[in-house]
Amino acid sequence: MAKFSVNDCPIIDLGKIQGERRGSITVVENDGTLPFDVKRVYYLYDVPGGSSRGAHAHRDLSQLIIAASGSFQVTLDDGRLKRTFFLNRPYQGLLVRQGIWRDLDDFSSGAVCMVLASDVYIKEDYIRDYQEFLEYRKGF
Ligand code: TYD
Repeated sequence: MAKFSVNDCPIIDLGKIQGERRGSITVVENDGTLPFDVKRVYYLYDVPGGSSRGAHAHRDLSQLIIAASGSFQVTLDDGRLKRTFFLNRPYQGLLVRQGIWRDLDDFSSGAVCMVLASDVYIKEDYIRDYQEFLEYRKGF
């Protein structure tokens, strides 16, 4: 499997359809916009101020993380480099490739973190121990 770095995790512009005085729509389809087909969507909300989420990596799963409402910060880590992104635009998503550790924090009140994922939920795909993650990255 390819070994991705944090520099392979761009912000993807999804575009928006803006109605006159009627609000906006952003659409994601399995049409090659993302490097994977979306098999699952989940969203985090009601995250108390000061809380953090994530703190794991996935062996095989790819994701697009979107601030559907409000804002939060995502720090990506490939075991060598870290990059922090501030997400606050519902028409943009952060592509998180396989094998990248992520920490989410600084949630604004009312923030909704929507995640488009390349696969169904598989518990065994998670690495939740940071030392194990570093070993995993070395072992590629
Ligand atoms: P977790 O992945 O730890 O949340 P985060 O990393 O974003 O802080 O998930 C929290 C709980 O929800 C955990 O018990 C697993 C469960 N869960 C599912 O059952 N299905 C899912 O698709 C997801 C994302 C989580």
